[in-house]
Amino acid sequence: GGVTTIDPGFKNTGSCKSAITFLDGEKGILRYRGYAIEELAAEASFLEVSYLLIFGELPTAEQLEKFDQDIKDNSMVDEDIHKILDAFPKNAHPMGVLTSLTSALTAFNPKAVDISSEEDMYNAIVILMGKFPVLVSWCMRKMKGEPLDYGDVDLSYEENFAKMMFKKPNKEYQINKIVIDALDKLLILHADHEQNCSTSTVRIVGSSHAGLFASISAGISALWGPLHGGANQAVIEMLEAIKEDGGDFEKYLAKAKDKQDPFRLMGFGHRVYKNFDPRAKIIKVAAEEILKDLDIEDPVLDIARGLSEAALSDEYFKSRNLYPNVDFYSGIIYRALGIPVEMFTVLFAMGRLPGWIAQWKEMRENKEPIGRPRQLYVGETLRPYVSIDKR
Ligand code: CMC
Repeated sequence: GGVTTIDPGFKNTGSCKSAITFLDGEKGILRYRGYAIEELAAEASFLEVSYLLIFGELPTAEQLEKFDQDIKDNSMVDEDIHKILDAFPKNAHPMGVLTSLTSALTAFNPKAVDISSEEDMYNAIVILMGKFPVLVSWCMRKMKGEPLDYGDVDLSYEENFAKMMFKKPNKEYQINKIVIDALDKLLILHADHEQNCSTSTVRIVGSSHAGLFASISAGISALWGPLHGGANQAVIEMLEAIKEDGGDFEKYLAKAKDKQDPFRLMGFGHRVYKNFDPRAKIIKVAAEEILKDLDIEDPVLDIARGLSEAALSDEYFKSRNLYPNVDFYSGIIYRALGIPVEMFTVLFAMGRLPGWIAQWKEMRENKEPIGRPRQLYVGETLRPYVSIDKR
């Protein structure tokens, strides 16, 4: 028989058991494998957090070194993938380019598709962890018309990523600790968020035993949407619009409160967090520090500050438990680092990669059945076929 009830948006449907990320929306708690997000963002590196999410424990120095080396051994990207990238128009959205190139990894690494042992799984994971940052940096360099760069195996995972992103031609790249720390923090804060839209996509595609790269490519497509990862771009566009409009944020606050006006304060509110978003607290402090350290005066930060302070003391926002979310300040940091606005969601994907991998691995290891929801049929009952001349 069919089902009698449905749950659009799966608001109240659990899809799996998971031991990866704990989230308490009422209390504003986020933990990866039992470790508080605040502590990880302050103390750990992105690669350590990736290991933690994927394998369940913080690595020893030796385990981390091996993981790092295996990733580096797999960080070369086939020149033919470079040719695929060349064929895209320069103004293509980098999320579309990234999802295509990630999917193309399947064709270039056919042995990594069938997963029948722990070793197969490990190999697919280090291939993806190795090549993905190269693809991310290529997406941005292509957009900016800059020559593509390959990694530098003498650097750490995060330093190497920064170098691939920011190295200018004919110029020695100087490691900037402030930039590395900022990137590290942002990537860690985005690394996992349990069964969100893109993660559920990765798990459901993977549940058909499609390979890891195809599953992650589907996750990137899901993340692309403005209701999900695309929100970080919308925040900066809103703050820019307020700036252009003379900086009068009170006017926008009034618009957001006006029920006749569809305008919403971008970067405010969250489906799960109803007290505060713990990631937003960390990012706000980081944004203030980074702009100060890099000696950048961004009028948009002043607008963000004023707008959030005004909203936080406003009865409309207070009574509805609306607080700044992770996206409210992340764009300000990306901008300070010289990353174009279209790339913001790509950076989100870079951060979310280890979470997607961990969730895919858990789903395969738990031998979860193929994802196949039911429906409530509301269409026509049986009708006789009518030939075309009689319609
Ligand atoms: N500005 C003004 N009013 C708002 C806002 C906002 N940003 N968010 C919610 N409200 C009001 C809403 O109008 C409703 O009021 P009322 O009860 O009078 O009808 C009440 O607050 C509850 O809102 P809701 O739409 O029922 O809440 P939801 O849980 O369905 O939506 C949300 C959550 C994040 C989609 C929503 O808050 C929103 O649209 N925020 C702006 C977009 C945004 O920043 N998205 C990024 C989310 S975090 C990134 C991620 O994890 O992917």
